[in-house]
Amino acid sequence: MKLLLCISGASGVELGAKFLRYLPETIEVHVILSDNARIVERLEGSSAIVHQNEQIGAGPASGSFGIDATAVIPCSMNTLAKIACGIGDTLVTRAAAVALKERKPLLLAPREMPFSPVALENMLKLSRLGVIIAPPVPGYYSDHDTLEAMERFIIGKWYDLLGIEHELYRRWTGETGRTEPSKSPGMKE
Ligand SMILES: Cc1cc2nc3c(=O)[nH]c(=O)nc-3n(C[C@H](O)[C@H](O)[C@H](O)COP(=O)(O)O)c2cc1C
Repeated sequence: MKLLLCISGASGVELGAKFLRYLPETIEVHVILSDNARIVERLEGSSAIVHQNEQIGAGPASGSFGIDATAVIPCSMNTLAKIACGIGDTLVTRAAAVALKERKPLLLAPREMPFSPVALENMLKLSRLGVIIAPPVPGYYSDHDTLEAMERFIIGKWYDLLGIEHELYRRWTGETGRTEPSKSPGMKE
C-alpha cells in the first residue's frame, strides 16, 4: 500500500505526525507538509518520504504516481475549502484533487471548533462525493486515562477507516460494557 499523509496548518499538527508512528512497515508512506516546518523534527526517525507543499511537480501531484489512499490530518478550514472547490494550488490540495479524480480513498480530519456554516457545507459536499470526514473527536467508551490513550483511539479510528491493521485501542464489545483489544475490521484472529 502507498499511503499519503498531508499535514495542513490547523491546530493539532502533532496528531498528524503521531499518525505515522504506528503504521506497519509494509506501507510505503509519503508526507506533504504545508508551511509547518516546526513539525519536521517530529518526523525525524520516520521512514516517510517527505515532500514540500511548494513542490507542485512531486510524485503525488499525478494520478500515475499510484497513491492508494490519502489522509489530511489535521485539515485546516482553508485546505478544506480549497479541496471542496477543486483548487489545486499547492501539493496538498493537488494531491487531494488527485485522490478525488482517481476515486481513491480520501480522509480529511477537519480541526476547528465550532465549525462555521461554510465549513459544514464544504464537509457535506465532500462527504456526498465519498470523502471520509473524520475530525479528531475522542470517544468515551474505551479506557482512556491519558491524553496519549485518547490520541491512540483517534489514530486507531483513522486506521480503521483506511483499512490499516492496528491494536491501538480497546473496542466496545456490546452488552457486557467491556472493551477488547482492537482488531481492525477483517483482521484475522
Ligand atoms: C496558532 C494558530 C492556530 C490555528 N488553528 C487552526 C485550526 O485549528 N483550524 C483551522 O482551520 N485553521 C487554523 N489556523 C489558521 C490556518 O493556519 C490558516 O487558515 C492557514 O492559511 C492554513 O493554511 P493551509 O491550509 O495551507 O495549511 C490557525 C492559525 C494559527 C496561527
